[in-house]
Amino acid sequence: MKVPFLDLKAQYEPIRAEIAEALQQVLDRTAFAGGPFVAQFEKEFAAFCGTQFAAGVGSGTEALWLALLALELGPGDEVITVPDTFIATAEAISYCGAKPVFVDVEPLTFNMDPSKFEAAITKKTKAVIPVHLFGQMADMDPILSIARKHKLFVVEDASQAHGAEYKGKVAGSMGDLGCFSFYPGKNLGAYGEAGAVVTSNPEIDRKVRMLRDHGQEKKYYHGMIGWNARMDGIQGAVLSVKLKYLPAWNEARRRNAKLYSEKLEKIDGVKIPSEFSHNKHVYHIYAIRVPDRDSLIAALAGKDIHCGIHYPIPIHLQEAYSSMELRKGEFPVAENVVSEFVSLPMFPELRSEQIDHVATEIRMLMAH
Ligand SMILES: Cc1ncc(COP(=O)(O)O)c(C=O)c1O
Repeated sequence: MKVPFLDLKAQYEPIRAEIAEALQQVLDRTAFAGGPFVAQFEKEFAAFCGTQFAAGVGSGTEALWLALLALELGPGDEVITVPDTFIATAEAISYCGAKPVFVDVEPLTFNMDPSKFEAAITKKTKAVIPVHLFGQMADMDPILSIARKHKLFVVEDASQAHGAEYKGKVAGSMGDLGCFSFYPGKNLGAYGEAGAVVTSNPEIDRKVRMLRDHGQEKKYYHGMIGWNARMDGIQGAVLSVKLKYLPAWNEARRRNAKLYSEKLEKIDGVKIPSEFSHNKHVYHIYAIRVPDRDSLIAALAGKDIHCGIHYPIPIHLQEAYSSMELRKGEFPVAENVVSEFVSLPMFPELRSEQIDHVATEIRMLMAH
């Protein structure tokens, strides 16, 4: 039985007619760059996140970058984040001229360890970016209280956590702002590249809107130097259709994760993901940990079961950041967990027979 890592077609098929209708409307109104479909989605997505505003941009990477620019971060500033994230989190910090500073993660959630956060703060620290890795929110209460004490901005990287909750609060709504990616494979994915910045701070929202549109509020009157980072009209229309289904899709992911965990938890050598009771994990990624992950991934691929690794090398050990001269051993928890991660097939339409099959194959392979 083939089990793909992700099956975007299975998600598209049942909404095909609605998507076609939405695309037709964009074409009929030729509302291609920004425009009414983006504005409509922004309203809906802000309501979904429980924030006052959402500004659509071209990608999650742009959401992070423009968010930091809107907070006026730049050369000489430090921004604290984690080493086990997608490189975009660090790139956004570097691209606004600031310096990323890493803090190790907790071994159970792989999110920022709040007990290690305060020690990393210096006079230059201006902001912290907790990343809600794999769909589970970071431990926001202690992170927020340390950040407030030191007057740091809190930027949530919620790119993997659309609809995730922490003590009943939705991802993106707890910090000064939240950044989302709508890359096609995300829990809420566009049909191309897209992202958003959500906030309840009108000044931050205004600046992000200016930055994404060449620094203008009125056409050809440029109040600041910005960029072209608008969301496409087509993406706004697709996202509006898909947002209605997101709660059901997230529930399906949670059901699939529960099934996986029930079947995998007793297998020797397999560590299943933990979900803290105050969290609602939305399982963008369902990652187990095993000691020899390369062999397991290769053996599963041989049986047409396709896995991923998110992410094989922590940021501080990436060649791109070699000038920081951070060595192996600096962030032992992150280094250890990333060496063991195997992301199993995970998407809402995954069938229980497929989950059964994956678990059975893992049990057999781990017994050898
Ligand atoms: C944690 C995290 N941050 C940022 C990004 C960047 O988003 P995008 O690919 O839309 O630029 C991603 C998406 O891959 C991500 O997973």
